[in-house]
Amino acid sequence: MVQSTSRLNQSRDNIARAYSSPPWWYDIRGLFILTFAYRSTLGRQVRLFGSNLGAHHLEVAIGSGSLLAIILRWRRWKGLPRVRIVGFDYAEPMLVGARQRFSGRPELALLHADVSSLDFADACFDSANIANAVHCFPDLDGALAEVVRVLKPGGTLAANVLLYPRGPWLLRRIAERINQWGMRKGILYTPYHHAEIREKLIASGLAMVAEEVSGNAYNVLLRKPPEPV
Ligand SMILES: C[S@@+](CC[C@H](N)C(=O)[O-])C[C@H]1O[C@@H](n2cnc3c(N)ncnc32)[C@H](O)[C@@H]1O
Repeated sequence: MVQSTSRLNQSRDNIARAYSSPPWWYDIRGLFILTFAYRSTLGRQVRLFGSNLGAHHLEVAIGSGSLLAIILRWRRWKGLPRVRIVGFDYAEPMLVGARQRFSGRPELALLHADVSSLDFADACFDSANIANAVHCFPDLDGALAEVVRVLKPGGTLAANVLLYPRGPWLLRRIAERINQWGMRKGILYTPYHHAEIREKLIASGLAMVAEEVSGNAYNVLLRKPPEPV
């Protein structure tokens, strides 16, 4: 579907406005959404994203940074190496929370940016994570093209994507209600069907490394193909 630039700008600005709650409330709300809309757990997310931090890492749509902070603690506990991280988000109120959380951490740079138009050179990151945000982007194809561009050949992308609710009737109804509320509020652009999002990710030029559907979430690890020799 081709969308006009003004419609895309409008939806992006709506999202930035929708993510204007104080970071503490955003975190509590996030745990509720994780449990009942994604039907996933923090542990699963920490393992997926925490294992995908290369030496120079890009944290896409970092939000208030609460998930990344837990991931960094988990990595320290596991004895995994410290890495350089650039995190960005389009919603300033989210970045305020992230800046407070990560103040005094020179290895972590925080920027205001739109995922569909990144001001980084080609092939400069070893890894990228898009945690809980693929389904928030109005221009997903543009977002993926940019993330693929800034990844080095051989670099990896981990993402989780909210699927249309599945499973037993009651759980499905609860998740549907949360999603409808999220779309009305503007914090969710759209959930995806599994086959549709899989196709989009592959069409962006990335190769599948690992994937699973768990609850209403599609968790995936992809790799940018190495340059031909
Ligand atoms: C559900 S939050 C996830 C935040 C964080 N990754 C986490 O897991 O806690 C989605 C984030 O995507 C950001 N976002 C939405 N559209 C964006 C865009 N076009 N460019 C950059 N960030 C965007 C929102 O501002 C919000 O912080």
